[in-house]
Amino acid sequence: MTAAEEILVLGHHGLLGRAVREACGPGCRVIAGGRDSFDLARMGRPASPVVPAAASALPGSETDQSLDWLRDELTGLGPSAADLHAGLDHLGSLLASGQVRLVINCAGYTDVDRAESEPEAALAANTQGAGAVARLCARHGVRLVHLSTDYVFDGQTRRPYREDDPARPLSVYGRSKLEGERLVREHLPSALIVRSAWLFGHGRENFIGKVLAQARAGRPFTVVEDQVGSPTYTMDLALALVTLGRRGASGLLHLVNAGQASRHELARQALAIAGLDPELVRPTTTAALAAPAARPAWSVLDGRRAARLLGQPQPTWLDALRRYLQTPEENKA
Ligand SMILES: NC(=O)c1ccc[n+]([C@@H]2O[C@H](COP(=O)([O-])OP(=O)(O)OC[C@H]3O[C@@H](n4cnc5c(N)ncnc54)[C@H](OP(=O)(O)O)[C@@H]3O)[C@@H](O)[C@H]2O)c1
Repeated sequence: MTAAEEILVLGHHGLLGRAVREACGPGCRVIAGGRDSFDLARMGRPASPVVPAAASALPGSETDQSLDWLRDELTGLGPSAADLHAGLDHLGSLLASGQVRLVINCAGYTDVDRAESEPEAALAANTQGAGAVARLCARHGVRLVHLSTDYVFDGQTRRPYREDDPARPLSVYGRSKLEGERLVREHLPSALIVRSAWLFGHGRENFIGKVLAQARAGRPFTVVEDQVGSPTYTMDLALALVTLGRRGASGLLHLVNAGQASRHELARQALAIAGLDPELVRPTTTAALAAPAARPAWSVLDGRRAARLLGQPQPTWLDALRRYLQTPEENKA
């Protein structure tokens, strides 16, 4: 990619989108793609209602029955045809201009609990919207990096999930992301679909920021100890996304910081690094928390394929957490 070529970052105001913009560096021009210009939920459906393409043609058919619920959810969903076409036209003409060589789609409906009561909004952005972006990228010969999540898994295994492990999401959010993966793959088989997890970083509220804020209030608080995953620093992820996107990597990839932790362990480490009292955070259980959306109990991702593609493993989450918290901006948050 030459300096004159451009990367379109959809969701550039978000936690990851901000890091991706930074990671692009001076070697390329970033076009910021906010919700105001490119609303995935509005682009997510064509003017005449269609159901998503059958997943049976795609690998990992264990959850193919789940398309039935998706068809039900999509019935009667969506903004007006004029709105839909305005959003599609805007993105389409930008991609048709030939300036954009790579789209990194960090946009999405990410409120896991709220998605349980707003499935149509999650589906419009994460499934149909993701598919619409892929369709336009395919039409105009633009490369695409699309983001997905460890929440596509049910957490019943106790070894790191590989890319070819069957996905069985437990939540509306997880299902909307899995179906988004399928539409992206169907429209643009050369897309790079990256599943990441448990993001922390600058610029948007996230788990670590909430933990630090609670500890600074000086009162004990609880964090679940029975959810284990792959905490991941947005800057490490973003640098890898830009590298792989520029190289034209494709397929499905698990990309997280190395190692694993429970939410409780992650919170304790964050407090210790920030010079706060780790004893303030007490363990609790997922059942006691009773959140609206079910989460996988164990969703560590196997990053070996990513390490092969990148030529090195990702740094550990603890190393990443230290780098993040040693950045003055976050310590002041
Ligand atoms: N956060 C995590 O722990 C995590 C874990 C695994 C995977 N992921 C995936 O990583 C990606 C980025 O997540 P994130 O944590 O950066 O999310 P985030 O901070 O919530 O940012 C999401 C971005 O998407 C934008 N957006 C929301 N709805 C939209 C719509 N209908 N049309 C266009 N833009 C829309 C938001 O716009 P506004 O700025 O207007 O709100 C925001 O800029 C997502 O695909 C997510 O599923 C995240």
